[in-house]
Amino acid sequence: MATSKGDGANRFLVWGGDGWVAGHLKKLLQDQGKAVYTTTIRMENREAVLAELARVRPTHVLNAAGCTGRPNVDWCEDNKEATMRSNVIGTLNLADCCHLNGIHCTVFATGCIYQYDEAHPWGGPGFLETDPANFDGSFYSMTKAHVEEVRYPGLPPCVNPVLTCLQIIKHYTNCLVLRLRMPVSDDLHPRNFVTKIAKYDHVVDIPNSNTILSDLLPASILLAEHRDVGVYNFTNPGAISHNEVLTLFRDIVRPSFTWKNFSLEEQAKVIKAGRSNCELDTTKLISKLKEYKYEIPEIHDAYRKCFERMKAAGVE
Ligand SMILES: NC(=O)c1ccc[n+]([C@@H]2O[C@H](COP(=O)([O-])OP(=O)(O)OC[C@H]3O[C@@H](n4cnc5c(N)ncnc54)[C@H](OP(=O)(O)O)[C@@H]3O)[C@@H](O)[C@H]2O)c1
Repeated sequence: MATSKGDGANRFLVWGGDGWVAGHLKKLLQDQGKAVYTTTIRMENREAVLAELARVRPTHVLNAAGCTGRPNVDWCEDNKEATMRSNVIGTLNLADCCHLNGIHCTVFATGCIYQYDEAHPWGGPGFLETDPANFDGSFYSMTKAHVEEVRYPGLPPCVNPVLTCLQIIKHYTNCLVLRLRMPVSDDLHPRNFVTKIAKYDHVVDIPNSNTILSDLLPASILLAEHRDVGVYNFTNPGAISHNEVLTLFRDIVRPSFTWKNFSLEEQAKVIKAGRSNCELDTTKLISKLKEYKYEIPEIHDAYRKCFERMKAAGVE
């Protein structure tokens, strides 16, 4: 579906067009006056993907499609084939079809492939793009990790031919892989990390890297337009704890808000898949964006501004 004419030579095709992040990308590109199209064609359907690329003739594909599970990633534990079909076979198929057609492909991936460890403790150094994934607590994260070339420590290289042959996306010279974590929008959409934790009966209190969409999505367009490739940790710099987020939310948006904490052990009793907690190192992203004179605010500052925008828009 064509949604905007645009005045440049670039034509953006957003994959997973009905999704949450995709909707934000479409609006952003429209607001920037760029040519943007969306599609809901299944990524794993090679003939249909090739036909869609031939029909729309994009210069850039923004892949915001993915099997994320409903109501949450616990769904992926019980639907492993469907999860692989989208997150592994589909993601690679789309990257490959774009490569064959000389199209730049930005993959909206996840940074939920790590957990704090001895070398990366709370408040210590964050995980680099080159660090191997060390979180296999959820099947969703595992499919996402294996589409990048990050291998679990101790996993023999050929332990599984399917997964081994999928550890290749970063070798596609047309692909930009952006690792989002716990994305946050300026509204209280159900997919917003803040909406999720504000609705839970109890929340853990652990510092994490978060992606404030208003700050990061414009950066994704800049990187795509410059045809940058490779893997980027795609979050605001720094880490913020659940309690810090909810305190800012209470102080700026909803003064009556209260919440209760529980421990990781107590949380494990009410979820099926494990949840990743980690800080990502954003040095590579920040220095690349400096070249384009684009700055990403530190996460506490970013949250404050996000909640102020929310309040100004009348969210309560
Ligand atoms: N939201 C988060 O917390 C988060 C965090 C980190 C990374 N991400 C990643 O960012 C991307 C977008 O996330 P989101 O929050 O916008 O998810 P979303 O709202 O669930 O949107 C994903 C969209 O992708 C579509 N889709 C799924 N499998 C597909 C396939 N095989 N072919 C074509 N379309 C397919 C879905 O359509 P159907 O519903 O019809 O299947 C849905 O419209 C995902 O890859 C996700 O893994 C999200």
